Amino acid sequence: MDAEITVSELTPDLAPAVVRLCDGALDLPEDATEADALVDALWTRAAADRPVFALGAYRGAELVGVLIGSMSAADPRLGHVDLVAVAPEHRRRGAGRALLAGAERQLADRGAAEVLLAGNPPYYAWPGIDVRYTPAVCAALALGYQQDRTAWNMTADLSYDESPALRSTQAAERRLAGQGVTVRRAEPADLPALAAFARSTFGGAWDGELAGSVGRPGAGCHLAERDGEVIGFAAYGSSRPSWFGPMGTAPAAEGSGIGGVLLRRCLRDQHDMGLESAQIGWVGPVPFYSGSSGARIERVFFLYRRTIEN
Ligand SMILES: CC(C)(COP(=O)(O)OP(=O)(O)OC[C@H]1O[C@@H](n2cnc3c(N)ncnc32)[C@H](O)[C@@H]1OP(=O)(O)O)[C@@H](O)C(=O)NCCC(=O)NCCS
Repeated sequence: MDAEITVSELTPDLAPAVVRLCDGALDLPEDATEADALVDALWTRAAADRPVFALGAYRGAELVGVLIGSMSAADPRLGHVDLVAVAPEHRRRGAGRALLAGAERQLADRGAAEVLLAGNPPYYAWPGIDVRYTPAVCAALALGYQQDRTAWNMTADLSYDESPALRSTQAAERRLAGQGVTVRRAEPADLPALAAFARSTFGGAWDGELAGSVGRPGAGCHLAERDGEVIGFAAYGSSRPSWFGPMGTAPAAEGSGIGGVLLRRCLRDQHDMGLESAQIGWVGPVPFYSGSSGARIERVFFLYRRTIEN
């Protein structure tokens, strides 16, 4: 007879085992290849900013499934499941159900009234469940979650030199220079000004993503300034090396081509890191990304939520 499934909280020294499990259990290759970066962002780095926990599902002594969850930094009533994965040979035997139940208990104990199967920026692996993870969609519905939103990514093709995503930015940068606008790579010393610009112009939670991008290996950020004032930025790699975003241009400077230049500078970096494509995450202005880089809508995510007792 099958050994019972038990769920217990994992300690950070087990991160390599969690990465190995995700590597084999995230069915989409683009996710499996970034398992290491994902676990690092969602568990290790996120723990500096918000309550985070990791659960393991064991069958006997074998780790067969993992879940990473967190509380929303913005709203103490909301808890998130950031990642859940069960080894393919152990599916449909209750591990996913047991992990979700364990996460709901953990989040209720921390004061959550609702659980979201949705990304918890600034550290997130996906905006929600990729529709191609159809078993996860089925599991969410079976466990009483309701879909409340849809989100999508765009893919920028970096695989050939003539790709619109790799179009030169030189002429546009010369034109911007004529208007007193300088474009350059952001350095760690720029972080306070960048974060202040992002907060005052767009609100929201971009401080963390900027801190995760500027000057970190596998990540980066470019900015535009006029008279020493930041008027736009674009960042990539804060949670995942192949993901682009966030970006923003001051409303007064919109339409001058700054956004396209900043976007393509980042995509050029990602190409130089050896990536064949980049994911423009949780979009956003589709016509802008399509026009500036030839990106196409590709990954689609359903976001789920469920009220819990606490
Ligand atoms: C989603 C996942 C974690 C579910 O794990 P699991 O251990 O198979 O889940 P359970 O056995 O507890 O299933 C719970 C219920 O979900 C539903 N379900 C799960 N897989 C299903 C499938 N392939 N088809 C239809 N329903 C399914 C069923 O109602 C099931 O209950 P039942 O078996 O009693 O009918 C697993 O499929 C997985 O790891 N997928 C790849 C990673 C992934 O998609 N993660 C989310 C990324 S955003």
